Amino acid sequence: MIPSYGRVLAAVCALATTAAAVTPVEVRGKDFVNSETGDRFQIIGIDYQPGGTSAVNKKTDPLSERDECLRDAAIMQQLGVNTIRIYNLSPDLNHDECVSIFNAAGIYMILDVNSPLYPGYIDRTAPWETYNKDYYGQVFGIIEAFKDYPNTLAFFAGNEVINEDSVEEVPQYIRAVQRDMKEYIANHLDRSIPVGYSAADIRPILEDTLNYFMCEDEDYETSHSDFFGLNSYSWCGDASYKSSGFDVLTEMMSDTTIPVFFSEYGCNEVQPREFTEVQAIYGEQMTQAFSGGLVYEYTQEDNDYGLVKLNDNGTITLLVDFENLQDQYAQLDLDRITASNASHTNIESVKCSADLIQNGTFSSNFTLPAKPPGVQKLIDDGYDGVDAGKLVDVESEDIPQTVYNHQGQEVTGFRLNVLADGASNLPGNSSTTTTSGSGSGSGSGSGSGDSGDDGDNAAGMVAVPVGLATVAASLFALVML
Ligand SMILES: *[C@@H]1O[C@H](CO)[C@@H](O)[C@H](O)[C@H]1NC(C)=O
Repeated sequence: MIPSYGRVLAAVCALATTAAAVTPVEVRGKDFVNSETGDRFQIIGIDYQPGGTSAVNKKTDPLSERDECLRDAAIMQQLGVNTIRIYNLSPDLNHDECVSIFNAAGIYMILDVNSPLYPGYIDRTAPWETYNKDYYGQVFGIIEAFKDYPNTLAFFAGNEVINEDSVEEVPQYIRAVQRDMKEYIANHLDRSIPVGYSAADIRPILEDTLNYFMCEDEDYETSHSDFFGLNSYSWCGDASYKSSGFDVLTEMMSDTTIPVFFSEYGCNEVQPREFTEVQAIYGEQMTQAFSGGLVYEYTQEDNDYGLVKLNDNGTITLLVDFENLQDQYAQLDLDRITASNASHTNIESVKCSADLIQNGTFSSNFTLPAKPPGVQKLIDDGYDGVDAGKLVDVESEDIPQTVYNHQGQEVTGFRLNVLADGASNLPGNSSTTTTSGSGSGSGSGSGSGDSGDDGDNAAGMVAVPVGLATVAASLFALVML
């Protein structure tokens, strides 16, 4: 009897403590791939910064408030995204509940390690003044806080630091930050979460920026970018592949040795946004060069790029752009865009040399600044100012907030669906219903496709450990006696 109790107890405990998790994504050649299946991973994502940059403070960040994350994850599941980018995070807050909710929803995270709050950034006008040990409290703090979550997809070492105001040395400092981050990651993480840069679309220096960060340097082995993000707004309204200049971007990015994706897109000069570029970005021509992208941005802020509006009374409105984007996503050929491609994953890297740089105003100096005092010790010993976050259990549940469509009709059925282990969220699984007035097309019956079915199974499974946990507790008490 006793030995069999022991086995049951072990099995029950394993079940009760296992949170369903996405499979980590890794870089192979110029693709992101699912580390278990080898399928290509294309980013179908949005930028997530509720409240905009003005909301940044030390008390909350976009991944610190459980109820808001639950609401947003449920809505994003309906939209069909598999990735969010978060710009401003505090390493000192607890992110376990929010990250676990997004993980359960099958949504990965790309995280900017910088913060607009001093000392959490590199000053583009005098980078040598802010590149110091205090800065690494933010950077290594974010890495520590997020390193153990399976849905941490990547870290951005910088966002648009190179622009019209930046001094010539800025690229060297960003490469130095990448060097330090990747040394830290190699020393202290279980997997090599990729590190890259998010560039503004400044065409005269775009190719130089890419080449500067992509090439590999023998003297600073960890300093190159693992991927390249591009913030580009050149497709406005019902443009075309040619008129938007996306053909030029595709040509420029077609021979990269690392993954490239749009870290921001979605021009708002023509409204409402139809997002016709989605079919181009995930179409056959562009997927040879790009690994998808992130639409700017989830919430409506002063700059007018929102997909949803958070109303003052706690309700939420899905703007017409939300529906348009959802419709575009639903047309994607998911089998094609996730197919693995050996010509992408087996690729030779490029060695750094000054002749990679064409524009005379861009740095061709690959000698990096030395680490500031104290930083090597942090890299060797680890930064202990922050506890590593851990997944917590999450159950499928309806969201309490009232949701309206852009015509003011209530839409119901927003529910966090806990997906099965290894599943990520996909477009085309909308299961909401518009309850009043004439149908606006947002209700499309029950979920279909892999992740929807898995979600239902997983939701059923989530209830099981609760009961078994009680059994386990009594068994445990019995063993203790
Ligand atoms: C290149 O950058 C290093 C610092 O990283 C500096 O010491 C050196 O003078 C620079 N070389 C040139 C030619 O500007």
